[in-house]
Amino acid sequence: MDGTSNPSSRLAARVRRIKPSPSSAASERAAELRRQGRDIISFALGEPDFDTPEPIRRAAMDAIERGETRYTATAGTPALREAIAAKLQKENGLTYGAKEIIVTCGAKHAIFNALAVTLDAGDEVIVPAPYWVSYPDMTLANDGTPVIVRCGEEQGFKLRGPDLEAAITPKTKWLILNSPSNPTGATYSAAELRVVADVLLRHPQVMLLADDIYEHIRFDGTSPAERTHILAIEPQLRARTVLINGVSKTYAMTGWRIGYAAGPADLIAAMDMLQSQSTSNASSVSQAAALAALRGDQSFVPVWSDTYRQRVEHALQRVNAIPGLSCRTPGGAFYLFVNCGGLIGRQTAEGKTLQSDIDVTLYLLENAGVAMVAGSGFGLSPYFRISIATSMELIEEGCRRIAQAVAGLRT
Ligand SMILES: Cc1ncc(COP(=O)(O)O)c(C=O)c1O
Repeated sequence: MDGTSNPSSRLAARVRRIKPSPSSAASERAAELRRQGRDIISFALGEPDFDTPEPIRRAAMDAIERGETRYTATAGTPALREAIAAKLQKENGLTYGAKEIIVTCGAKHAIFNALAVTLDAGDEVIVPAPYWVSYPDMTLANDGTPVIVRCGEEQGFKLRGPDLEAAITPKTKWLILNSPSNPTGATYSAAELRVVADVLLRHPQVMLLADDIYEHIRFDGTSPAERTHILAIEPQLRARTVLINGVSKTYAMTGWRIGYAAGPADLIAAMDMLQSQSTSNASSVSQAAALAALRGDQSFVPVWSDTYRQRVEHALQRVNAIPGLSCRTPGGAFYLFVNCGGLIGRQTAEGKTLQSDIDVTLYLLENAGVAMVAGSGFGLSPYFRISIATSMELIEEGCRRIAQAVAGLRT
């Protein structure tokens, strides 16, 4: 023994429990292959391919010029919190005061901190699967226990009342609900939200984390005001709901890192305290940009949504024409969650049998030069997620390559 300790034993148990995000890993693998000179089309990314609109970029530059480069209040500038309150009122019919809103470094940070201030060891968090990759790991990182509830394709990838009821125990602290969903695009109707709300009303210890980050990317032609928020359907849940949103997806501002949470004042105060002892405020310049985004012209939002819809329709047609693959029509967000069950058991030209969706995505990366994320990372197999937040040309070419690679498989 040389006395050197095992490096992994330095790490806290909460860190040893978690793993890197599979979607980031897939994007990084695609970037690495590109650096090696391979021609890779990435369908792995979870961010808009549009640039942040010019007035928003300009607002950030103006803020720098005005010297808005110092610390702000931990919970965000009063102006931005007011703009968030105005947005929630106008678009969602929900009334929140400044003390019930906190600005965070992206929506991800808001979710993490909401869990961090509420979970004790062994507390359970219900996560309907397929889920956004980070929910279970964020739960584990905060000493909680994710309780995964399978929501299969046959139920539209949505949580059903009896399954929710069966998953609730005295230790349940949260239900996480994400509509429209990453990775499936599943979108809950008012009636489906009513069912979820009714179950929650029977279990007062369960809090609701409503992740609304994709709320503006919808394909049913409705405006936000026409859509019903679960809190508008059941106002009694307000006292135990934390609503999560941000500017990343709607305004193509993923790199600016501005998200927010709205919820009961005691929870928001606890998040504020944790944030004051960790990251402090989100970037002052980004907050100025987010303010311009929320207060500015919104006319491009439905236009972008329509662009995503056209891409989704095109990609769906292509994917559903490939033998062995099938995909439901998503209600929103910018992903297709493709069933690749028909490829499992088939053999590559080298004689390797595809045994899982991970094998399928590796095969397509190597043989079609198309990167995507395996369904196992989202808690449901055999599927893969493709992001359509890329140009129509790349969608067309990527689907052509997938079709060709699939045709090269032996039955
Ligand atoms: C469902 C969901 N929630 C939250 C986030 C995080 O958003 P942000 O970039 O604002 O942290 C993402 C990003 O991929 C997401 O897909």
